[in-house]
Amino acid sequence: MKKNIAIFASGSGSNAERLTNYFTDSEIVNVSLFLTNNKNAGVIERGHRLGIPTVIFNKTAFAKSNKIVDLLTNQQIDYVVLAGFLWLVPENLLKAFPDKIINIHPALLPKYGGKGMWGHHVHEAVVENKEAETGITIHLVNEEYDKGEVLFQAKCEVLPTDSAADVAAKIHELEYKHFPKVVEKVILG
Ligand code: GAR
Repeated sequence: MKKNIAIFASGSGSNAERLTNYFTDSEIVNVSLFLTNNKNAGVIERGHRLGIPTVIFNKTAFAKSNKIVDLLTNQQIDYVVLAGFLWLVPENLLKAFPDKIINIHPALLPKYGGKGMWGHHVHEAVVENKEAETGITIHLVNEEYDKGEVLFQAKCEVLPTDSAADVAAKIHELEYKHFPKVVEKVILG
């Protein structure tokens, strides 16, 4: 039987779109739902265009009620994928999906992780610190930001002339290449 995934995204949602396209004809994974905490997020338009039901929620529903867990359970979601999602995952969601919540982070954790380290903030710090390389980390989610078991990492070079935007483009390229395959692998066990 196919496994249903729900994708959480707070921003543009380009990874959510890549995942959806990758699994379009999959016999393993069905992308059931997009969820976002940001009513202006690009992922909403992508959801409409791709025909994926998209839910917008607020902090109370997410962190102080069982609404999101109930929704995911009712929709028979098997795995949760965080693709640019910026809120800490609450305990009730962790408990409902033990070792079944996967996050992508745009750096080589444990470097450049933790609260406030997301998206362009990460790339700006990488450039500022004159790192020679950076990369992506795909990991299981636990109760702390960016601390769960690492499943996969991939690296790319940072040139002395690279801007944060250049680094972001390299990171997105790595994410598009690897994230769907790693999610598929996790689900296959
Ligand atoms: C991605 O680069 C992802 O790794 C990062 O946000 C971006 C979302 O891009 N996630 C984090 O920073 C989480 N800490 P997208 O909306 O275009 O997929």
